[in-house]
Amino acid sequence: MDFQFTEEQLMIQQAARDFAQRELIKDVIERDEKALYPTEHVKKLAELGFLGMLVSEKWDGGGMDTVSYVLAMEEISKIDSSVSVIMSVNNSLVCYGLEKFGNDAQRDKYLRPLASGEKIGAFLLSEPEAGSDATKQRTTAKDMGDYYLVNGTKNWITNANSASTYIVIAHTNPEKGSKGINAFIIEKDTPGISLGPHENKMGMRSSDTHSVMFTDVKIPKENRLGEDGFGFKFAMKTLEGGRIGIASQALGIASGAFERALQYAQERKAFGTEIFNHQSVAFKLAEMAVKVENARNLCIKAAWLKDQGQPYGTASAMAKQYAADIAMEVTTEAVQIHGGYGYVKEYHVERLMREAKLTQIYEGTSEVQKIIISRSLLK
Ligand code: CAA
Repeated sequence: MDFQFTEEQLMIQQAARDFAQRELIKDVIERDEKALYPTEHVKKLAELGFLGMLVSEKWDGGGMDTVSYVLAMEEISKIDSSVSVIMSVNNSLVCYGLEKFGNDAQRDKYLRPLASGEKIGAFLLSEPEAGSDATKQRTTAKDMGDYYLVNGTKNWITNANSASTYIVIAHTNPEKGSKGINAFIIEKDTPGISLGPHENKMGMRSSDTHSVMFTDVKIPKENRLGEDGFGFKFAMKTLEGGRIGIASQALGIASGAFERALQYAQERKAFGTEIFNHQSVAFKLAEMAVKVENARNLCIKAAWLKDQGQPYGTASAMAKQYAADIAMEVTTEAVQIHGGYGYVKEYHVERLMREAKLTQIYEGTSEVQKIIISRSLLK
């Protein structure tokens, strides 16, 4: 077993680190406070090839492996998860599904501009009454002969405003349950689509999150992805990879907070010595280091399985559940180690703690991951 990263993987990690530590850091506090969309930084992600890094070069992507994706996501998330979530949704939830399950005409028209970063995509599964229980889709896509007519509302959609291409999950045949669901490519400027206000979130405040309403939206037949009734499996397969992205985001939030706490503990003095010399602090840092290392190993393992063409659904659920849960623990301890400074924005750890919370909720709550993991134990 080889625990070494390749030269190429290390170069990608370094490029992401440089971008995050030199550019993202500059205005991250202001962007968070004012909930400003990171337009310029998203352009830079495209230049770096990160928006479509997992897509093959044939379709204008970066042709990079999933292990590199984990490394890049970790570095960017150490500084700003509003930026890394845009990258993760575009790569894992939008480009992946198009490349894997689309046909060549769909790939040519929709995947190419998303893979090159010229355009951004969004994934529309969650609804006001269908979050964890994803089969309970209320959005319908009625077969009208030569087109589908879509009606319904989607909630908490990342990239809803910045995206030009939506992947939308809807029921075509509600009486068939999960087998009556389909996935569609819908262009955002199609008549009948409207957006709710920008969600005023606790964390990741500068990524754009909205509800999306569909009122008699006509979509061409050729925009259905895969065979009739494939939509639920499409969503579940796509989320398997998406969870590697969000697990790596949680890992980055945790490792970013850990690094800041470690640094602070060696500078701050109390009771006549640097606080690292107090065992209560050193032991906290030791426990945080173990959690971060475990999360990293789970993320890399899931990514490696995907790169090897092996099943990775359970591994990605394990990585997502563990990394998200320890991100919450590690960021909370990082705030504690910083004391009063940890509670003010300049020290970054309070923001990392707010961001960590979202990783336990989106792309499947920690409880959903446990459903997936526990079911796999019986197989
Ligand atoms: N791969 C292929 N097929 C799968 C599958 C997978 N990973 N998981 C389920 N299926 C299939 C099943 O085999 C079954 O098919 P058959 O009937 O042919 O056997 C069918 O799908 C239904 O499966 P289940 O009965 O297991 O479905 P369920 O209703 O029990 O749901 C669940 C399981 C895991 C809880 C699922 O509903 C789920 O993942 N929920 C969470 C949804 C989620 O993650 N939402 C995130 C939204 S995106 C987001 O957050 C993006 C963002 O902003 C960043």
